[in-house]
Amino acid sequence: MTRKKVFMTRNYHPDATELLKEHYDVDIWQENNTPPYDILREKVENCSAIFIESYDKIDSELLSSSKELEIISTRAVGTDNIDIAAATAQGVLVANTPGVLENACADFTWALMLDIARRISFSDRSVRDGKWTKLDQLPYLSTDIHGKTLGIVGLGGIGYRVAKRATGFDMRIIYHSRTRKREIETELGLEWAENLELVLKSSDYLSLHMPLTPETEHMIGEYELNKMKKEAFLINTSRGRTVDQHALTKALIEKKIAGAALDVTDPEPIPKNDLLTTLPNVVITPHIASASTENFANMAKMAAQNIIAALSNTPMPSCLNPDAYQYR
Ligand code: GLV
Repeated sequence: MTRKKVFMTRNYHPDATELLKEHYDVDIWQENNTPPYDILREKVENCSAIFIESYDKIDSELLSSSKELEIISTRAVGTDNIDIAAATAQGVLVANTPGVLENACADFTWALMLDIARRISFSDRSVRDGKWTKLDQLPYLSTDIHGKTLGIVGLGGIGYRVAKRATGFDMRIIYHSRTRKREIETELGLEWAENLELVLKSSDYLSLHMPLTPETEHMIGEYELNKMKKEAFLINTSRGRTVDQHALTKALIEKKIAGAALDVTDPEPIPKNDLLTTLPNVVITPHIASASTENFANMAKMAAQNIIAALSNTPMPSCLNPDAYQYR
């Protein structure tokens, strides 16, 4: 029997690759970046499954060339890079990796919050640049976190765990989400905000955890930034496009807010000469919130398991479009 073909867009998941090789012919793009469009098109046309990363865009044009394709498995929780409606119409299943990365992302969100509040990267840069020449704390004065108000937008798996960690910092926690989660409110002592504006006005730290959708694109723009406190910090580990980056840059320069810690930007990578990268009250990391070594491997394993389940017609760990089954 001929073995099905699986294409992986990266060569950095040895365990997941081994798992897939037990069942399929696995073809791996050898450069650690997104394969060119033509290569992706060829693979979409000839493979039964593709294993992708959140940077690999799978649009309807690409999908229109699919013949054998049964599943797109992304090693990510965000799926804004995949045209799920087009995949469903073609009978192609789409899977992601929820349930494994939340703690790693919540840890990282907190790392960013601590960094921007207590000016850790700023101070580190200063020491390395030879500016620490006398015992003077004044240039490094920073902001407390404990006792302040944390605003969370999007109380999914990551937002929930960010809130959970905040209880250890004795914070007031207020959230706004698509759906109200009363059980979590009771568990963690969270306050529900009926509208975003209430969270914007109340927060000393505003952390974004919503998926990127047409509704959340530029959800934080000039109007919203103007509603925030002058002393407030924005932390974004969701997607760069949830924030209007021009408006954010302006707000930071005009000191409408105190600072921003961003694991995601628009575009990615952010150009070296972007004004944001020159501001002292900004910390930027290269979209790595989920990238602990342990979690990196666990996500890859789950993405492989999604493929194995889909190709063997057994229940998938995480299927985003079960409707696709009726078009297969
Ligand atoms: C990372 O950005 C993810 O969506 O998992």
